[in-house]
Amino acid sequence: MAEANITVIIKRNYEEVSAEAFRYMKEIVENKKDAILGLATGSTPIGLYKKMIEDHKNNGTSYKDIKTVNLDEYVGLGAESDQSYVYFMHDNLFDHIDINESNVNLPNGKAEDMDKECERYTALLNDMRQDVQLLGIGANGHIGFNEPGTPFDSTTNIVKLKEKTRMDNARFFDGGIDEVPTHAITMGIKNVMNAKSILLIANGENKADAIKAMLEGEVSEECPASILQTHPNVVVIIDDAAASKLTK
Ligand code: PGA
Repeated sequence: MAEANITVIIKRNYEEVSAEAFRYMKEIVENKKDAILGLATGSTPIGLYKKMIEDHKNNGTSYKDIKTVNLDEYVGLGAESDQSYVYFMHDNLFDHIDINESNVNLPNGKAEDMDKECERYTALLNDMRQDVQLLGIGANGHIGFNEPGTPFDSTTNIVKLKEKTRMDNARFFDGGIDEVPTHAITMGIKNVMNAKSILLIANGENKADAIKAMLEGEVSEECPASILQTHPNVVVIIDDAAASKLTK
């Protein structure tokens, strides 16, 4: 049973999920001009980002003093690669709003010393507690690139990607699965849980099992997202298809 600390909002389709997520985000940005937004990549947040851009253009909502921290990045990819998450974030959001580039933070997938990069990013996150952390969810319940089995007390770390995750992401790579990097650097679960609030969005039937495990299953490292049951302030916005296996 989902705890009262989790608000679940079920919408008819992806468009409505994106619109509801946008309302949540806009309220934060309007109420706190220098808010720290934890952001995510993947296909799910694209609709939300489109609405943020549209709203910035039409209504002048400003991101001038907003700061961002992103969840993760592929090891070995940087801004020059259109598959990197730093590229994705600029392409899908940052290049179209008035955010200050120096306020944008992602883990560096091309750092010379990746262990040091993990330490750097964790220290940065400790100084920059997210007002909200946006999350998608993997079909296997992962959050960020924290795959099943990741300790709940993990901080920024390097992960070897599970085959399922690489297959899920292969659609973004011209050359298919062989081009998908084998490792990623990701905010740890502890860094995610440190956020003041968490906004998780998901759509589609292939997320239904993960959503059920997250909300109705045991809190278990086998479903990383289930830890959200212990966070004080979580909003989950999903469509009917992603909600289709919920029983409670
Ligand atoms: P998706 O990925 O938004 O592309 O479905 C979500 C995730 O794997 O966290």
